[in-house]
Amino acid sequence: ATVYVPRDSAARSVGADEVAQALQHASTRGDFALDVVRNGSRGMLWLEPLVEVVTPQGRVGYGPVAPEDVEGLLAAGMLDGADHPLRLGVVDDLRWLASQNRVTFARVGVTDPLSAEDYEAHGGLAGLRAALELAPADVVAEVTASGLRGRGGAGFPAGIKWKTVLDCPDELKFVCCNADEGDSGTFADRMVMEGDPFMLIEGMTIAAHAVGASEGYLYIRSEYPDAVATIRRAIGIAREHGWLGHNILGSALDFDLHVRVGAGAYICGEETSMLESLEGKRGMVRAKPPIPAIEGLFGKPTVVNNVLTLATVPVVMAEGAQAYERLGVERSRGTQVFQLGGNIARGGIVETAFGITLRELIEEYGGGTHSGRPVRTAQVGGPLGAYLPESMFDLPMDYEAFAAAGAMVGHGGVVVFDDSVDMAAQARFAMEFCAEESCGKCTPCRVGAVRGVEVIDKIVAGTHRDENLALLEDLCDLMTEGSLCAMGGLTPLPVRSALTHFPDDFLGGRRLLD
Ligand code: NAI
Ligand code: SF4
Repeated sequence: ATVYVPRDSAARSVGADEVAQALQHASTRGDFALDVVRNGSRGMLWLEPLVEVVTPQGRVGYGPVAPEDVEGLLAAGMLDGADHPLRLGVVDDLRWLASQNRVTFARVGVTDPLSAEDYEAHGGLAGLRAALELAPADVVAEVTASGLRGRGGAGFPAGIKWKTVLDCPDELKFVCCNADEGDSGTFADRMVMEGDPFMLIEGMTIAAHAVGASEGYLYIRSEYPDAVATIRRAIGIAREHGWLGHNILGSALDFDLHVRVGAGAYICGEETSMLESLEGKRGMVRAKPPIPAIEGLFGKPTVVNNVLTLATVPVVMAEGAQAYERLGVERSRGTQVFQLGGNIARGGIVETAFGITLRELIEEYGGGTHSGRPVRTAQVGGPLGAYLPESMFDLPMDYEAFAAAGAMVGHGGVVVFDDSVDMAAQARFAMEFCAEESCGKCTPCRVGAVRGVEVIDKIVAGTHRDENLALLEDLCDLMTEGSLCAMGGLTPLPVRSALTHFPDDFLGGRRLLD
């Protein structure tokens, strides 16, 4: 039988390697005939390590499996999909998964991430082949028509960015993938790189054809060693298969990719800082304009897109802009790969069309808190995102609806907190985080964040509370208006949301819980 055990680092962190070894051991002993395939993760992280067995009914899942469960599972007839307390049923039929719309994540967890054969057998390269049939401007038009917006958080239309690069006359252009994924509570980029790396390579290659670039860089955070290793191996395999290099798939396109590893600075996820870092310099933010699309890496026109944006391009090209554009609401088209984390019962990946509410994500998919206590708030969009109270959970996931509510969808991370959270401490943390991660280039952020921590401390201590609340408001205005980049510019978002929705937490003293 074929048995799947994820190689995703979330699964490895809870013992997937040991489970795979125990299965191999049983096979080597000759007791059971099985082949272990290391797939990506399905994104049901509370069930990891999730072991899947291929049966005539489909892939039957067992989980979470501990290494010491393996003998018992095999004896119980797991290889035939037999019953067992850990048996979950046919994985594709599990409601949590079946009710999603996996477009970008269609192959993640299904295939062997480093098998070129698996990739092609599951629709891989169809997007690139379709793109190579088209003139660059037509590829750009298709991506524009799909409504795909930058999934890194800002939501800028990908096709319009690409058109800016295409329209530059320069001979040398670059495609850079921002895989710094610094937002707390986000892990979709990592799961793409570990679970379906060829998709990202294919997306970058389509971008290269569309804008006329010959070289690409992946900037991956050092905290993701598995992603770095998987991408490096995938690039090697892609070169061997003629998916990268000269005359890609027999076309006139020449394009190659290089990996660069970050060194732990959050600000290197800001695109201009990332470019500085790629050039071998310290990660400091550059003033915009000029935008990277016109003067980017080494001063040349550069596409800078997030992993999810580039990874979505192949399916857009394979199935056509209309199929993608049909999904979603208002100006938020297609799907978003939401990442549920924090104090949540069922954390993981929920890919659905935009328009789903926060309540559906947290209550129906997430199953409430892990602690079993009531949900008090969720921070959406990373450490620079707003904290939303339960009364706002019916907000649809839509870039504009969130912005109108003083919040942001960002990279799609949802971090849940129960009623033991101290929101003044969270607001202080936002300022502290900014002080820690500021690149130091502009004063509102470099100095403002440090002052922000002090002012919040004074408010909580009850020192001239009204004056200091007014001062904090003023400081938030200044940081929003005067910061050079989103780091300082967005830090007031979590602070203000905490003040607005949870004012009592700033009165000092501990809140009483039952
Ligand atoms: P931005 O709004 O300045 O730019 C968005 C993108 O559009 C950039 O790539 C910019 O160069 C490009 N652009 C703007 N005008 C253009 C034009 N006319 N032609 C072509 N391209 C154009 O936003 P920024 O500062 O790049 O990103 C801020 C966002 O980053 C925040 O909203 C936040 O959600 C997100 N973020 C994400 C993190 C993560 O880990 N994924 C971490 C921190 C923040
Ligand atoms: Fe640097 Fe902060 Fe200014 Fe951004 S806002 S340029 S991180 S000092």
